[in-house]
Amino acid sequence: MLGIIGGSGLTQLANLDVSHREVVRTPYGEPSGPLTFGRIGSRDVVFVARHGYGHTIPPHLVNYRANMHALESSGATQVVSVASVGGIRGDMGPGVLVVPHQIIDYTWGREMTFQSGGDGPVIHVDFTDPYDAAVRNLLLHVARSVGEEVIDGGVYAATQGPRLETAAEIDRLQRDGADLVGMTGMPEAALARELAVPYAALCVVANWAAGRGDSAHGIKFDSLEAVLHLAMTRVREMIREVLRMGDPRLLRVARPVTAFGTPQLTALLRDMRDTMAHLDGAGLAAPQIGIDLRVVIFGGMVNPRYPDAPAVPDTVLINPEIAPLSVAEEEDWEGCLSVPGLRGWVPRRTHLHYLGFDETGRRFERTAEGFHARVVQHECDHLDGVLYPMRVRDFTRFGFVEALNLPGVIEE
Ligand code: HPA
Repeated sequence: MLGIIGGSGLTQLANLDVSHREVVRTPYGEPSGPLTFGRIGSRDVVFVARHGYGHTIPPHLVNYRANMHALESSGATQVVSVASVGGIRGDMGPGVLVVPHQIIDYTWGREMTFQSGGDGPVIHVDFTDPYDAAVRNLLLHVARSVGEEVIDGGVYAATQGPRLETAAEIDRLQRDGADLVGMTGMPEAALARELAVPYAALCVVANWAAGRGDSAHGIKFDSLEAVLHLAMTRVREMIREVLRMGDPRLLRVARPVTAFGTPQLTALLRDMRDTMAHLDGAGLAAPQIGIDLRVVIFGGMVNPRYPDAPAVPDTVLINPEIAPLSVAEEEDWEGCLSVPGLRGWVPRRTHLHYLGFDETGRRFERTAEGFHARVVQHECDHLDGVLYPMRVRDFTRFGFVEALNLPGVIEE
C-alpha cells in the first residue's frame, strides 16, 4: 500500500476513492489526524495530512513519529511525502516541482528517533542516501507520464520554522549546498529509514526563498497561496493511476501510431514499463494509462501457474494485427490492472499469429500459443475497447479474488 503524507495545500486528495477513515494510536502518541484509506486507480492508498486536516499543526509540533509509525503499522510499504518549499537555486522558482536527492538537517528539539534508549541495542541506520531510489523513480515517472516537468535531484535544507528564514540564513544554506528549503523534511525522512519504509519527497516550490527572486524584499503570502493551490492541483493529477473499468477512455478504439523512434513514444513506453512493473502486471496497453494509441507491452515474466512453461518474450507491440491459427479455444482465469480485485474465466484462441512494429518501427511477426497467445489477445483487446469481463461467458466464474480462492493468477 502506498502511504502519502500531504503537506500545506494538500490536506485531501480529490481523486482518492475513500473507503474509510481510521483514528490510529501509536506508542508515540496520535498522528496529525485520522488516516484516510482508499484507492487511487488500482492502488491502495493511505493518506494523512501532515499539518492536520484543518492545517492547525505547525512544522515543529507535528508528531512525525506517530505519523510514520501509524502509516507503517497500517500497511504502508512505501511513503511519498508532498511538501511545499522555498526555492533557492535559480531554476527552482515558484510552481516548480522537485524530487530532491539529499537533505541537510537544521532542525532542533524535535523527537527525531524511535530509539528512546530502552533495553535494545543502539542501531545506527545508514542515511547516506536519505531518499529511496525506487520511490524517487516512481515520482519522476508518474510526473512525466502526465506531462509534468519535474527536477530530478536537489538538496533539501530542513529548517526549524515556523518563521521563514532571513536572507542571510538563505545565503548560508546556499553556501552549504542547499537548493530548497522547507520545514518538515526532517525528521520525517530519518524516521522512515529507521522503520525501513522506502520514502521520497515531492517538493512543490511555493515561493522564492528569502532574499531571492521576488522575495528579495520579503515573502508575499498572497501569491504563495495561489501558487501552492495551482501546483497541488497538478500534484493530485500526478497521483493518478491505471484507469479502471467504467472509465470511457477504456472503451475507445485506439489510434494507430504514425511516427516511430520519437521522444514521445520512448517516454510512453518508459511509463508503461514502470507502471506494469510497479503493479506486477503481465502486460499493459496504452489506453489503460489514458493514452489513445495502439501500443501494448507484455512479457518478460514466467507465469506463476506454469513456472516451467517458456517465459513470454519481453515485447513492445505497436499497431498489432492478430490472426487466429485455431478455432480451438481454451478457458482460463484472467485478471486485469483495470479491473482490480476481480478474476474471470475467459475463453481465448489457443494458437495465433501476430504482427506489428517495435518502438523503432521495425516490423516483426510471431506465432504464439497457450499463455503467450492469451496475453496477446488480452492486451490487444484493450486497443479495441474490450475488457476481459466482456468476454466472460460463465458468470458463475467471475468474482472477487478473495472470494474465488484461486491459485496465483497474474493481472494482465
Ligand atoms: N522556507 C521554509 N519553508 C518553506 C518556505 C520557505 O521559504 N516556503 C514554503 N515552505
